[in-house]
Amino acid sequence: MKNIVAIPGSLRKSSLNLELIKSVCAQFNTEVSAWVTPQAKLELPIFNQDIPLPESLSKDLIEYKNLLKSSDGILIASPEYNGSVSGGLKNFIDWLSREQNPFLNKKVGLISISTSPFGGVRGLMHLRDIMMQLCASVYPRNMCISTNGAAYSEQQLQLIKDFASNFFNFVVNKL
Ligand SMILES: Cc1cc2nc3c(=O)[nH]c(=O)nc-3n(C[C@H](O)[C@H](O)[C@H](O)COP(=O)(O)O)c2cc1C
Repeated sequence: MKNIVAIPGSLRKSSLNLELIKSVCAQFNTEVSAWVTPQAKLELPIFNQDIPLPESLSKDLIEYKNLLKSSDGILIASPEYNGSVSGGLKNFIDWLSREQNPFLNKKVGLISISTSPFGGVRGLMHLRDIMMQLCASVYPRNMCISTNGAAYSEQQLQLIKDFASNFFNFVVNKL
């Protein structure tokens, strides 16, 4: 059994990226247990290297970090804001990478959805750079979906299925 931890990079309750990451996880085969773990519940302050986290939050962050460290793969969905990765997600990654970096040598997949025609691809290029900086092994193909808010089309559903299958193969070294 392979463990994949899925990080939705949006703090919004009705996030399209949260829906998307759940849809990908639902398509993984039976050899995968996938954990969708919203960062929102941690309510992290803006990262300031001078200020330590309160103890209760620190405990939750360490728990989250351990989940990532023990995973076989990490899937991240990021909204795109002003052509880049969401500030909330970057803040979360900065907190996570403090002291021990849980992305080190991890197989990471990147996905996004947005209402722009590009589907958030520019944000993912920046996220890819951040992940490379953290020495993750990033799956070469992003999956970006452009939406008008309607249900996924047949073509988009196929894209989601293919991504889940290809990312699994990447995680188990078959790609
Ligand atoms: C301030 C702001 C800037 C945005 N910039 C972009 C952008 O550069 N590219 C893009 O594709 N969408 C952009 N969007 C649209 C968001 O990507 C869209 O609202 C998306 O649904 C947010 O993700 P979520 O639904 O997962 O929270 C922007 C939205 C806001 C409010």
